[in-house]
Amino acid sequence: MNYKKSNLYIENIPVQKIARKFGTPSYCYSLNKLKSNIKNFRKHFKSISPMICFSVKSNANLQILREIKKMGMGADVVSKGELIMALKAGINPKKIVFSGVGKTFDELKFAIDKNILLINSESESEINEIEKISKIKKKKIDIGIRLNPNIDSKTLKKISTGRKEDKFGLTEFNFLKIIKKYKNSKNLNLKCLSVHIGSQITSYKPYIKMLKVIESIIKKSNYNFDFIDLGGGMGIRYNKKTKKLNYKKYYTAIKNFLKNYKTKIIFEPGRSIIADSALLLTKILYIKKTNNINFIILDAAMNDLIRPALYNAEHKIIASKKNSKIVKKRHEFVGPICETTDKFLSVNKFQMLKEKEILSICDVGAYGMSLSSNYNLRTKPSEILINKSSVKIIRKRQKLNNII
Ligand code: LLP
Repeated sequence: MNYKKSNLYIENIPVQKIARKFGTPSYCYSLNKLKSNIKNFRKHFKSISPMICFSVKSNANLQILREIKKMGMGADVVSKGELIMALKAGINPKKIVFSGVGKTFDELKFAIDKNILLINSESESEINEIEKISKIKKKKIDIGIRLNPNIDSKTLKKISTGRKEDKFGLTEFNFLKIIKKYKNSKNLNLKCLSVHIGSQITSYKPYIKMLKVIESIIKKSNYNFDFIDLGGGMGIRYNKKTKKLNYKKYYTAIKNFLKNYKTKIIFEPGRSIIADSALLLTKILYIKKTNNINFIILDAAMNDLIRPALYNAEHKIIASKKNSKIVKKRHEFVGPICETTDKFLSVNKFQMLKEKEILSICDVGAYGMSLSSNYNLRTKPSEILINKSSVKIIRKRQKLNNII
């Protein structure tokens, strides 16, 4: 995504052209950015050759998943719907892990029938449920158990998952109890220790602490896991203030850990793979000026992208045609929904804007479309994939007929 002269391009296509042809709001992905993110992720952990399972909750578009599959990735799913989508994309079931605190009997049965790599479980009750299915099907089932390492990942509270007050994972006590109970089970293979301490993590330090906790619990349990699933959570730079995650430090710590334990590492990244590969194209409907503020009223809203409203997340907004006239006044970029939180960004200056102009909201590939809704009975946006000079619709704009 680059400016050529003053026009914003995604690969070889000007953003304005896409907006004109496909309308707004539209999610627009760069295939080459997605591919280079996957390559970079691999490079960071090259010598340990981990299994990389893309976290489908961050983006469940079928064509995106197909591209991800072509790059050799597996999938981390959290519902029957996501599992079906991953299988439909052609992802090998032996590269699929099923996470989540509360899977239904039907979901567990379905996953077991599909012979996926692992069901990562987080409670004794769910493990009992899996055992029941194992007996019914007379089949030994591979499971992982998720540890709550009680670590603050120093990210937003609402997306932190590894502290003892979070609902996720098992306490050390319960974790050890489960190993004792099931290590010689006829019905279950305890194959994996899993953790996931949060999302949008930008410091390597919580990861180092997490590895220490894992090491200590493995020692206490005296049990060998075939897999250690370290989850995802690697943060990206939504703005210049955000620190860049030091992958090298994380990688070195894992390498040291592996000196003592022979096991295969699994990662479940979502955001770091897809977030910065997409823009949300939106049109300025109206500009409403008060003494102090210019309200830039967009045709995109919190139903299309809820991260700013839900987490106060900051997504940059950029013009599709640059100009040099800077207006020094507070600009609030808002959507048309009847909620005060339907606001994307406030800035103290922006280039001169006109109604009907196209803007792009940045880094929306992860938890953008996948968290969209029909709030205010608004239809969901379209999704478009750009590959050099080719433009392909990968999800049509929802029609009002489908929701009314
Ligand atoms: N594995 C597990 C078990 C997870 O719960 C998650 C994310 C991931 C992997 C992927 O994490 P990532 O690499 O994408 O950080 N809606 C929020 C993020 C919620 C993340 C939930 N779990 C947001 O928009 O920031």
